[in-house]
Amino acid sequence: MRVPSAGVPITAADLFRGLTERDTVRLRDEFVRFLDVSHVGLTGTGCAAFFLILRALAARSDRTEVVLPAYTAPVVLLPVQQAGLRPVFADVSLDTFNLDPASAADRLGRNTLAVMPAHMFGIPCELEELGRACEAAGAALVEDAASAFGAKLNGRAVGAIGDAGFYSFHRGKQMTSVTGGAWATDDPDLAEAIEAEAAALDRTPLRRRAGLLARTFALSLVVRPRIYGLLHPLLAGYKDTAPHDDFEFHAYTALQAGVIRSMLGRLDAIIEARNTRARRARAILENTEGIILPDVPEGAEPVFNHCPLLVPAELRDRCISAGLDTGVECTILYGTTVYGAYNLDGASCGGHDCRRAAELADRLVLVPCHPLVPMDKLEQAAEAIRNTVRRGTGQ
Ligand SMILES: Cc1ncc(COP(=O)(O)O)c(C=O)c1O
Repeated sequence: MRVPSAGVPITAADLFRGLTERDTVRLRDEFVRFLDVSHVGLTGTGCAAFFLILRALAARSDRTEVVLPAYTAPVVLLPVQQAGLRPVFADVSLDTFNLDPASAADRLGRNTLAVMPAHMFGIPCELEELGRACEAAGAALVEDAASAFGAKLNGRAVGAIGDAGFYSFHRGKQMTSVTGGAWATDDPDLAEAIEAEAAALDRTPLRRRAGLLARTFALSLVVRPRIYGLLHPLLAGYKDTAPHDDFEFHAYTALQAGVIRSMLGRLDAIIEARNTRARRARAILENTEGIILPDVPEGAEPVFNHCPLLVPAELRDRCISAGLDTGVECTILYGTTVYGAYNLDGASCGGHDCRRAAELADRLVLVPCHPLVPMDKLEQAAEAIRNTVRRGTGQ
């Protein structure tokens, strides 16, 4: 048995709903109700949703800069660049592992079109101070809730709090249709502009739809720890570790909408399974010298996508191996800042001085906490990491 780093259980009922779903309208309407937001649209990827939002914002402004956290999924750089905009990086906080609102506020200027905080690992990012700073500067607040569908901040769904937000249904998220994304906004004018941009999404060719069905079925099998244990040497080649040089710009399909509608019906149970595991791992890892766990802000209801922690950089490889020895695939995630992943030159992106993001990239370890992680395995992996840090720091 080997527990994959990411996994969403995909059931026969999910697949059946996918096969029988006729369009994407019902899912869109269910999201409107679930997120309590007036406008939602579906896209083939989270990046496509972000791109549409940026294009719509850029169409009504001559501002050209987008402030991004220096540590997040590097691929978010591509929609910014492809929309003809300039990324400017702000630092993250080592207390929350999310965008540092003070650093982001520092980067705001007369040319800032938008600021994009990310709710990393399913942990809501504080938005109050940042929202005020954006408003004062006339910049839009666009939430990256790619890994945080279902999380809340002060009772409101993340991704639906700022001027606009987006979600991902890529295979590592709370719910998955292999790929997929959505945008949300309460601003009717912005929604209309995004819809107009969405007309450019590629209608998915039949061949790709058949491929999606095959991939969904394959994914439903390989995320199971027993099957993954047998197949993981073969699967290594399919994992995307190099930075992407493009993102998919397809329309969402009825098949995918059906799968997600079916999962949405049990999202509460998925979230509970994740949060129970993350709480258990955090209880084992907390109060260990050398280990830092992110604070969850007051008023936040996270949906832990992983259990993230920082360990001393020189012990990280040993921690990953110790986790693997227990049969649990712990990971380092991206291992670099966004500007590092794409070798951006400092002058083009507001400088390379995001030291905390670089430290996070060097020290981060993710313990998987998806519903397919057996609780005893999770405990063994967390204990193995804790003991590795204790030994390594002479405790
Ligand atoms: C924080 C974050 N933002 C954006 C994305 C991009 O989403 P997608 O892969 O659906 O384009 C991801 C996906 O990994 C992510 O984790």
